[in-house]
Amino acid sequence: MSEKDSLFGLDAGEQKALLDQLQTANLLGAPKEERKRRDSAAVPERFGKIAELPDYKQIQVQRVVGEKMGILNPFFTCHDTKAKGRTRIGGKEFLNFSTYDYLGLNGHPEVNAAAAAAMKKFGTSAGASRLVAGERPPHAAFERLLAETYGVEDAVIFVSGHATNVSTIATLLGPRDAVYHDALAHNSIIMGAKLSGASRYSYPHNDCEALERMLEQTRSRHERVIIATEGLFSMDGSILKLPEMIALKQRYTCFLMVDEAHSLGVLGATGRGCAEHYGVPATDVDIWMGTLSKTLCGCGGFIAGSAELVELLKFKAAGFVYSVGMPPPIAAASAKALEIMLREPERTQRLQEVSAFFLREAKKRGLNTGYAQGFAIVPVIVGNSLVAGLLAAAMFKRRVNALPIIYPVVEEGMARLRFFLSSEHQEEDILTALDILVEELPKAQAEVA
Ligand SMILES: Cc1ncc(COP(=O)(O)O)c(C=O)c1O
Repeated sequence: MSEKDSLFGLDAGEQKALLDQLQTANLLGAPKEERKRRDSAAVPERFGKIAELPDYKQIQVQRVVGEKMGILNPFFTCHDTKAKGRTRIGGKEFLNFSTYDYLGLNGHPEVNAAAAAAMKKFGTSAGASRLVAGERPPHAAFERLLAETYGVEDAVIFVSGHATNVSTIATLLGPRDAVYHDALAHNSIIMGAKLSGASRYSYPHNDCEALERMLEQTRSRHERVIIATEGLFSMDGSILKLPEMIALKQRYTCFLMVDEAHSLGVLGATGRGCAEHYGVPATDVDIWMGTLSKTLCGCGGFIAGSAELVELLKFKAAGFVYSVGMPPPIAAASAKALEIMLREPERTQRLQEVSAFFLREAKKRGLNTGYAQGFAIVPVIVGNSLVAGLLAAAMFKRRVNALPIIYPVVEEGMARLRFFLSSEHQEEDILTALDILVEELPKAQAEVA
């Protein structure tokens, strides 16, 4: 046998035995003849059509059912004015419970002025990835302010909140690692876990005992582990049990990642989020994640934590390295919004009062508000997706904009109208909306029954 024919120095018989073994274990893919047969077989035409994709078909089914039931399509409604607690749609004024403008800062004169000044100086684009040629002074200034706000060493901003989670998890973990996430964690956390190739464990919502049982049984199978969860849950308005989570992450040598998308500006006496709400040191959490699209009325996301974490992400996170830098006017606007949040804690306090009022009044009316704790997000769970769609449409006709959240975003049977509160909502706005809801809900239920 020549050198060329020798596979790992095995003779022909040994080579054949090894190849047979690999084939049996399905490690080599289909044998050559079978591959050829498959290659020449006709590929069904549907595999070449977008309209045949299952997700596309599902959208069409929902659209047709909605039309048949006479439900106005609530998605992609164009608003005539900025996202605030009141809005104009088609020239008519609406109460708006579908905005992230938690502290009423969207369009604030100082925020607009900061964006305009940055735009005048730097234009509307960073022009390149920051690593290459996109760095501008508003980037680093904003990151410093974020790190100070959290009381951690450093921070880094990304151009998308969703991409922040995806990129960060995929950078930190690989196939030998694992993510343990809350069953209600945001899609971006799940996507990050999938992209990383790490194993994924979902524990029941906010159930630290169940999480501990999972860690006990499986932690040792993996190298690095992230426990990934939200601070204030975006669909349910419940708050993470942070002290218990910190204890678990310490006991089982994990990283703890908390998504503060809906906590910043909302939780804690001065809006500093979950750590302030519980009075725990922010440094007990390894990875603070947040978005600029809510309280900070911009667009993008951030990670705050140790200097090592931030340095690693700045050089290795694909969503940062291979993506353009944040437009300088957005960085300047969100930094100004953060400055105002810190300067005027009465905005956060007002939001907390308004949210607690909403929850109290909803409960008084016998509505099912699920896990909501009365901080900025309160779902009214109606069960059936059609009921949720009909109810939202009926409320829209009466000038209340509250969007339905239906299957598959939440489980079937858990469809809801989700109310986002703003510090600018008035008590009478809330009473009006809830009274309309209570009148329209039985009608929607009767229509579906
Ligand atoms: C909990 C949570 N994380 C991440 C994101 C993604 O943020 P963005 O919309 O800013 O991309 C969202 C979006 O709403 C969210 O609710």
